[in-house]
Amino acid sequence: MNLFDKLTDKARKHPQRIVLPEGLEPRTLTAADRIIADGLAQIILIGDKTEIRAMARELKLENISKATIVDPTDEAVVERYAPLFYELRKSKGISMEEARLTTANPLYLGCLMVKAGDADGQVAGAMNTTGNVLRAAFQVIKTVPGISVVSGAFVMLLPEGSPFGSKGVLVFADCAVVPNPTAEELAQIAVAAARTARDIAGITPRVALLSFSTKGSAKSDSVDKVIRATELARELDPELILDGELQADAAIVPAVANSKAPNSPLSGRANVLVFPSLEVGNIAYKLVQRLGGVQAVGPVLQGLAAPVNDLSRGCFPEDIYKTIIITCNQAIGLKNL
Ligand code: ACO
Repeated sequence: MNLFDKLTDKARKHPQRIVLPEGLEPRTLTAADRIIADGLAQIILIGDKTEIRAMARELKLENISKATIVDPTDEAVVERYAPLFYELRKSKGISMEEARLTTANPLYLGCLMVKAGDADGQVAGAMNTTGNVLRAAFQVIKTVPGISVVSGAFVMLLPEGSPFGSKGVLVFADCAVVPNPTAEELAQIAVAAARTARDIAGITPRVALLSFSTKGSAKSDSVDKVIRATELARELDPELILDGELQADAAIVPAVANSKAPNSPLSGRANVLVFPSLEVGNIAYKLVQRLGGVQAVGPVLQGLAAPVNDLSRGCFPEDIYKTIIITCNQAIGLKNL
């Protein structure tokens, strides 16, 4: 059974309620229709009911009739969620009227539904920028206890027979969100990536904090940051199999680990790679994807108290379908189901 078959099975066993704020976006509707047809989640679409139904008819999407549709212009809807937004943001000086206006923004309304316990996760970004999708999640859903920074991981599906990773999978983080993490943030990214490895990749995490230095072989401020982050990550989750600072080969090649880091608990078999900056992480995942013929699944946003995932504006219905399944599995993982 491949990774997506497993994730699909789990989603079907524990159906989650997923909000799609871009309810009038054709690729999103097409993916939603398939999710409902396959019995994988309860879908909540945000948008005008009449327009969504007309578009579903036009696209011949028969299952959309089973989705819940929430209209952001409905006063009762705004009145239900605006007080929650006001509470969350009043320290920032917003007025109740501003809270009402923001609540009517579908990206915020979806997050507010999740925050209120009326939904389990959100997927958006087919029409909206990454910044807008993330900002709504940061402001409303916020982070899981113990983590204050949201980051983005890629689950890298390795070619068959690859000696690297576990069960054909390596997890890379952060590749999408935090440009220059501090040591504290890097430690949190490592712990969050371990959770992604468990919840999404179904593997026992073995986490390497990467650098251009292995165990003191080079000296610089950025090496010191990774050393400090490794100590902090150990404090955050003492049970985790984790090591740093390691060069990439010392992290994933047992023979190199044996000579460069013989006492490393990873023994050259890391399956979660944590990069020292977004620059490195983003470049690394794209190079591995293109040069190595590796499928990159993500970014999976990690560290949020409930899952929200962002799509590329060039995405296909298949990408949205898969992102919904991933989001369901994150919600299931966070609830320990
Ligand atoms: N985790 C948690 N909260 C955050 C984070 C984070 N990573 N970043 C910002 N916040 C919070 C802030 O604390 C602030 O909260 P507050 O309003 O309650 O005080 C709020 O979010 C807004 O913060 P800003 O500093 O205004 O953040 P901004 O909105 O400018 O930027 C963004 C956030 C868009 C995510 C920014 O970090 C960014 O652009 N990151 C890079 C994204 C990117 O371009 N990635 C590469 C492409 S993706 C790919 O290739 C797969």
